[in-house]
Amino acid sequence: MNKFSIIFRGFLALTYYIYFTLASDPCSLQDFCVADVKSPVLLNGVTCKDPKLVTAEDFFFRGLHKPGNTSNPFGSKVTPVSVAVLPGLNTLGVSMARIDFAPGAVNPPLIHPRATGLLTVLKGTLKVGFITSSPENRLFTKILRKGDAFVFPQGLVHFHQNVGKTNAVALAALGSQNPGTITIGNALFGSNPPIDDEVLAKAFRIDKGLVDEFQSKFSAQQ
Ligand SMILES: *[C@@H]1O[C@H](CO)[C@@H](O)[C@H](O)[C@H]1NC(C)=O
Repeated sequence: MNKFSIIFRGFLALTYYIYFTLASDPCSLQDFCVADVKSPVLLNGVTCKDPKLVTAEDFFFRGLHKPGNTSNPFGSKVTPVSVAVLPGLNTLGVSMARIDFAPGAVNPPLIHPRATGLLTVLKGTLKVGFITSSPENRLFTKILRKGDAFVFPQGLVHFHQNVGKTNAVALAALGSQNPGTITIGNALFGSNPPIDDEVLAKAFRIDKGLVDEFQSKFSAQQ
């Protein structure tokens, strides 16, 4: 291999590296691309509605003033404002969510595969944290009060807990029109069809009876 070829290959590798580390929702090549929810075309994102038919309603969502119903085993409720309910978000790389917490509630450990989250507490007191990837598995945790903000890096396991005596409300800004949520417990113990007992028993170093118990709780909840 000559010197030029080595430099050229190095340059290509660097280009790919930069391209992939900056990977996020696609950049807009137009002012907007309001999601055409009725389109039969499947692609990465949603096809655009004819701009001539777009109205202010396409960029609008009403309802974040309404508290979510927290009567569930976690005591928390997420109200997402993503492209599914606000078509104007398509291709814009951003969305948000309201999260309500009853006293003692948790938003259980979860991952957003496609977005970093920036959480602001509007009411109450939350204990939040995220864990870095292996092998460090380092926990970063903090108590947040009204007006505080905390960032959860994309793809990392994180959680929220209401440690105050009142209800709590938080607003999350998310760096994707469709951040996605993988709730760890539901994914592992409530999958459809279920993961083999043996896998989960080995993975968590527990016996199969306990695996069955977890599975019955998580599948009943869905
Ligand atoms: C909240 O959810 C619970 C459980 O699904 C339901 O029984 C209750 O009627 C809901 N409350 C309101 C106000 O919607």
